[in-house]
Amino acid sequence: MARNWISFPKVEGEASRQAHADLPDGTYERELGKEGFFGPATQMYHTHPPTGWTDWEGSLRPRAFDLAKINAISRNPWDAVDVLHNGATQLRYWRTSGRMDRLARNADGDELLFVHEGSGHLYCDYGHMAFRDGDYIMLPRGTMWRVECDGDATFLLIEASNDHYFFPDKGMLGPHAVFDPAILDTPSIDDAFKAQQGNSETQVALKRGDQISTMTYPYNPLDAVGWHGNLVPVRLNWRDIRPLMSHRYHLPPSAHTTFLSSRFVVCTFVPRPFETDPGALKVPFFHSNDDYDEVLFYHAGDFFSRDNIHPGMMTLHPCGFPHGPHPKALDRALVQSKPATDEVAVMVDTRDALEIGSLPEGVEFAGYVDSWKAKDAAE
Ligand SMILES: [Fe+2]
Repeated sequence: MARNWISFPKVEGEASRQAHADLPDGTYERELGKEGFFGPATQMYHTHPPTGWTDWEGSLRPRAFDLAKINAISRNPWDAVDVLHNGATQLRYWRTSGRMDRLARNADGDELLFVHEGSGHLYCDYGHMAFRDGDYIMLPRGTMWRVECDGDATFLLIEASNDHYFFPDKGMLGPHAVFDPAILDTPSIDDAFKAQQGNSETQVALKRGDQISTMTYPYNPLDAVGWHGNLVPVRLNWRDIRPLMSHRYHLPPSAHTTFLSSRFVVCTFVPRPFETDPGALKVPFFHSNDDYDEVLFYHAGDFFSRDNIHPGMMTLHPCGFPHGPHPKALDRALVQSKPATDEVAVMVDTRDALEIGSLPEGVEFAGYVDSWKAKDAAE
């Protein structure tokens, strides 16, 4: 039977007629929303910031992790540090160096590599592709691959467990918006790929259900001479994303969706001008995104809505409480001192609750829950 949302427009008390703009004087806007900014939503106008808590007990709380403090280097991606996971995704932080001595194959789902630091070369079933910082590399489930890094490199690995990656529907924006599909790079059967083929014994580390199996070939199985088809790894760098923005309206995070699977979305925040309309919010609105756990990985730049955050950090805002700009950013809600943001961040919003992996001592920033307190306390 068809279903209809229990949803109809209604205005009560003092309210703006346009979300995220022209707020009633002295109020703080909070959005209560379903389906990760795609479903029914209400903007509520509060007299106090919705993040004004003074104490917090219990395990549900905002969390922050300084992944830059993870020092362990591994040449095997399946030894990467499990940061967050649920049945639909795994987020691992992988610090590596030089050349992988085995191939990897993920039988659990498509894998999205985000290159946080470093550069190098990817060799996979489909050929060779160079990579650099800021690249996403989407590897379909079962692809055999290895990397040869130019020195040290760090990756955020985002697995679509038992699932696929898709691109979002671009709707009325048309096919060339945000990034032109022609910008997507794919591996090549080039001289570098052919040069690494041969009869040296090669092991493959297979991951299935988080168990690792190892198979050995008496030759390098990355031995294709060609291929034809529409299943292929792709590379996309954030520098090729031309973000959506409006000078009169702060767009929701969903406008920055880059990849999605059935149970989570991956969004990319890239530098963009601030809104210029005097009544438009210039920072993210407070929100209760009550169907999703929200993860943000800070890649580069100055994070305009967050205090005490630097590149390599990751925050987790589980659903169930409101969040929004930190105090210093809130001061700039209507007047920004800079014309544009220079932040680059990767957001992963998951429909299912995330669990925290076993992180090394000192990686979690325990004071994060207090970082919305008055400016002096947060510093
Ligand atoms: Fe959020």
